[in-house]
Amino acid sequence: MEKEQIKTPRFLLSEDEIKGRIKIMADEINHDYQGKDVTAICILKGGMVFFTDLIRFLKMPLRCEFLATSSYGNDKKSSGEVKLTMDTKYPLEGKHVLVVEDIVDSGLTLSYILALLKARNPASVKLCSLLFKPASLKRDLTVDYVGFKIGNEFVVGYGLDYAGLYRNLPYVGVLEE
Ligand code: IMP
Ligand code: MG
Repeated sequence: MEKEQIKTPRFLLSEDEIKGRIKIMADEINHDYQGKDVTAICILKGGMVFFTDLIRFLKMPLRCEFLATSSYGNDKKSSGEVKLTMDTKYPLEGKHVLVVEDIVDSGLTLSYILALLKARNPASVKLCSLLFKPASLKRDLTVDYVGFKIGNEFVVGYGLDYAGLYRNLPYVGVLEE
């Protein structure tokens, strides 16, 4: 098989910076959920690296669930249509649900997921995202835990991809034109 062409992204957030911030987010989550069990839902595929780092700092009784959506295809712009491609396994009724996402851009994906999960009558739902692009937000959405606010740039690494590639980069970088 031929080797794919990979451009080196412009450096944005280092591995250490990300780890440090995740630890602080986890402290906040541990504090907010004292005395409660949590069902953490990883939004695949982008959320996988952040999710596995975050949950290792969480101290409450925790269950892990996985949910996958797609809206991008091979494009840098969302198609505007969110599809559920994999659903969670166990009932969420009465559970404290924490949704763990890689990035909030237009907010379309998380709005869709939030509506879907709320219909299952959880005790609570909170949203947590490593990255957030405030200037791109097109939905009335509150993200309860945000790692880093970034500009309106296309970023890759630390779970985030372009056309399926770059998820394994240990840092976050900007993919220039
Ligand atoms: P939204 O629905 O526009 O908020 O986009 C959310 C989804 O699009 C995220 O879960 C990511 O998978 C993907 N996405 C948005 N912005 C970027 C980016 O800058 N790099 C890589 N993926 C992105
Ligand atoms: Mg995603």
